[in-house]
Amino acid sequence: MIKMDLLSKVYSEYDKNIRKKRFVAVIVILMMFFAIWISSTDYAPQSLMLINSIPVERDAKFIIKPSKENLIAPNALHNTTFYKSIVQYVHDQSHVEHCSNRRYIIYRCNAGKLCGGIGDRQKGIITAFLLALLTKRTFIIDVSNPCKLETILRPSLYDWTTCKDYALSVPAVDSMSLHLIGDHTFRSKISKQDFRQWNKTVVFIMLNWLSFPGIRQHDVTKVMNLFTAITNEEAIRVVLESLFKPSHSMDTEINAFNRNQRQDRHLVCAHIRTGGNPSIPLDSKSDRRNPNVSIIFSFLEKYDTHENVIYIATDADEVKNNSYLTFKNVITLKRKIVHVDKLGNMQMDTACEGYFTAILEQYILAGCDTLILTHSNLGFMAAYERGVVDQLFLYNKKINVIQRAKTLEDIYNVYGYI
Ligand SMILES: *[C@@H]1O[C@H](CO)[C@@H](O)[C@H](O)[C@H]1NC(C)=O
Ligand SMILES: *[C@@H]1O[C@H](CO)[C@@H](O)[C@H](O)[C@H]1NC(C)=O
Ligand SMILES: *[C@@H]1O[C@H](CO)[C@@H](O)[C@H](O)[C@H]1NC(C)=O
Ligand SMILES: *[C@@H]1O[C@H](CO)[C@@H](O)[C@H](O)[C@H]1NC(C)=O
Repeated sequence: MIKMDLLSKVYSEYDKNIRKKRFVAVIVILMMFFAIWISSTDYAPQSLMLINSIPVERDAKFIIKPSKENLIAPNALHNTTFYKSIVQYVHDQSHVEHCSNRRYIIYRCNAGKLCGGIGDRQKGIITAFLLALLTKRTFIIDVSNPCKLETILRPSLYDWTTCKDYALSVPAVDSMSLHLIGDHTFRSKISKQDFRQWNKTVVFIMLNWLSFPGIRQHDVTKVMNLFTAITNEEAIRVVLESLFKPSHSMDTEINAFNRNQRQDRHLVCAHIRTGGNPSIPLDSKSDRRNPNVSIIFSFLEKYDTHENVIYIATDADEVKNNSYLTFKNVITLKRKIVHVDKLGNMQMDTACEGYFTAILEQYILAGCDTLILTHSNLGFMAAYERGVVDQLFLYNKKINVIQRAKTLEDIYNVYGYI
């Protein structure tokens, strides 16, 4: 209750102060240009930026047009033990000079192995990163299926490419592989994991799950006070922001979307994940998916006015096509839909474009003013990155209705897994 009052107060303050803030922003930008001009060759070293804790974007194009709420949330999260532990980890890692003096955890997803879709991969990366924090191992991401992750996302606060070539060249006798995709036995025992058993230089991990309850229970976590005063959903957001930012080409697409399609309108989004359908023929049909699209479209009708624009993100071309028949103010990405784990014999460049598109779609969802989710990890992750519960709605298949979320944890409460 107190929190709600505080938030609504903050929002009204926001409205009042918006002009003032714009003025201040312009002054700040002018000052930044001036500072860059007088010291154009004299950039702050990476480590200094880290100690200041909030990484500054040098290439000052703003990533996502932030909603009001997004302007508020990050600062509070940057004040948590969790964020500070990540900053400390980044700092410690940057002080190990030689790659040969490190031990590694490598999240791996390469050809011929199932890794899951975008959301599954993000879950695996988050869990592997937490294990690297607990073991103080250097964390590396080695995704090459269907193409290198580096072509789509750049490292953010933490550079997960440092020493990658070295780590991948470590002889097999000095490495071990944990194949943990769908391994719920391992997951259920993670709170008691004895990290001394990981006695190799390199530990490869393949996994697709989160395990906050288990990891929270681990003795090392408790000693570090890692998750004091932070929810799982907030921790997910902090990890994703610490690891990733869009590649330059992704940035360009996001900016073009905001400028040309969103314009200054209120962005009302629905992520409609249907499962197996003619656009992604190899995906399985699932009872959990296949939402009732008419219910979602009826809900969206009230937003079909010129101040708003409805954005439909979906894995089905049919749903996109129907949205144009139903709404006047609607946009979609007119790109090929691909499920990155269900490629069949698709051309690699087509698959890579599909991977890029799915992540672009996720960034757009993370910037929506109003967001409606169906059962999909990609959508859940977008909602965590979006960071607020305001105007978040969940299509609940069991009772065939759209519910307003009261906390971000309701995503877990309605859809069941995290
Ligand atoms: C950060 O935490 C300190 C103490 O833990 C508190 O005094 C301060 O108000 C917090 N700042 C923000 C921005 O939340
Ligand atoms: C390394 O750990 C494995 C179990 O994971 C164990 O069997 C082996 O003896 C350990 N080796 C050393 C040198 O500690
Ligand atoms: C969607 O829900 C509406 C309202 O309950 C119902 O009339 C309709 O048959 C449902 N459609 C499908 C495809 O289940
Ligand atoms: C959707 O519309 C496009 C363009 O009008 C058409 O080529 C495509 O076949 C349609 N797809 C479906 C599944 O309706």
